[in-house]
Amino acid sequence: MGSTYDIGVVPGDGTGPEVIREGRKVITAAAEKYGFSLNLVDYDLGGDRYLATGDLLPDNVLSEFRDLNAIYLGAIGHPEVKPGVLEKGILLNMRFELDLYINLRPVKLYPGVVTPLTDKGPEDIDFVVVRENTEGLYAGAGGFLKKGTAQEVAVQESINTRFGVERCLRYAFEYARDRSRNKKLTLCGKTNVLTYAFDLWERSFKELASEFTVVETDYAHVDAICMWMVKNPEWFDIIVTDNMFGDIITDLGAMIQGGMGIAAGGNIHPGKVSMFEPIGGSAPKYTGQNLINPLAAIAAGQMMLAELGQPEAAQGIEDAIKKVLVNDVKDLGAGRMGHTTSEVGDLVVEYLLDQN
Ligand code: IPM
Ligand code: MN
Repeated sequence: MGSTYDIGVVPGDGTGPEVIREGRKVITAAAEKYGFSLNLVDYDLGGDRYLATGDLLPDNVLSEFRDLNAIYLGAIGHPEVKPGVLEKGILLNMRFELDLYINLRPVKLYPGVVTPLTDKGPEDIDFVVVRENTEGLYAGAGGFLKKGTAQEVAVQESINTRFGVERCLRYAFEYARDRSRNKKLTLCGKTNVLTYAFDLWERSFKELASEFTVVETDYAHVDAICMWMVKNPEWFDIIVTDNMFGDIITDLGAMIQGGMGIAAGGNIHPGKVSMFEPIGGSAPKYTGQNLINPLAAIAAGQMMLAELGQPEAAQGIEDAIKKVLVNDVKDLGAGRMGHTTSEVGDLVVEYLLDQN
């Protein structure tokens, strides 16, 4: 008997339920094939529940989450709810309350996928961003003075703790050492302007570098990183950065790997419950039409199985995704795939089961 994993499934808003339905098919097929079981329990969180009851992330749900092995999330965001309410109340709250201090975002161009970088291919675009996920500008520090007056002051502070920075960097160094192509780690910061926050990042980075001597280290300012990600993405192997910069550069990363249809991420607390999601939004305009691309959600499922300790199943899913991209789906955009959402899920399952 293989292991059993308790997974909380949060289909969420918009196209979330459609992509998660496909992801569920794929991870369930992988579990059967590779000999483990998944106990998938659905949680109704998101805009509809909030509009009906006012609930965001209730305490009892949160405490059940703590006992799970992982959470699989579709999308959060509802056109009738003011921007920020669901994002802060559900997604960010989950990251903070469960202390999911790493946001891991692979940027990998698969063969067959079109990138806007015309002279770059899969051998050039293959890196991972390790984004700090619980501090920085997202910590919510700051406030208003004289709100609503002509003298109004708004302060939003970036919180960087030694503990938070170091644990994120340590994860990135370990990742670069154990799981990367070239064992190269680039710190992305802004040491020329943010001379307090990134001084702390840089000092911690240098200290850890002397502990991880097999890892080659590099530094680049965030604005330069944006330039190099477009001009010379092959320079990057692992990039580590703070919460805000990580948010921004991973959207750029998603575009060079073919778009939101394929970009997945993990919100991770090593050894504890972690949450996996496609990084795109709820795409309200495609809701319920079976047109959205489920590959990002499927790739999030792949990351989840890898983190749960099922690397062969994860590899099997990745290989199947690659086959779909080479043989079947040429355009990753919603409605342009030449296949429906459910057909794409079925194709991944077919290839997964066909492989030895
Ligand atoms: C992401 C999203 C979130 C973030 C939003 C929805 C709060 O953009 O996961 O990157 O800013 O982290
Ligand atoms: Mn983002």
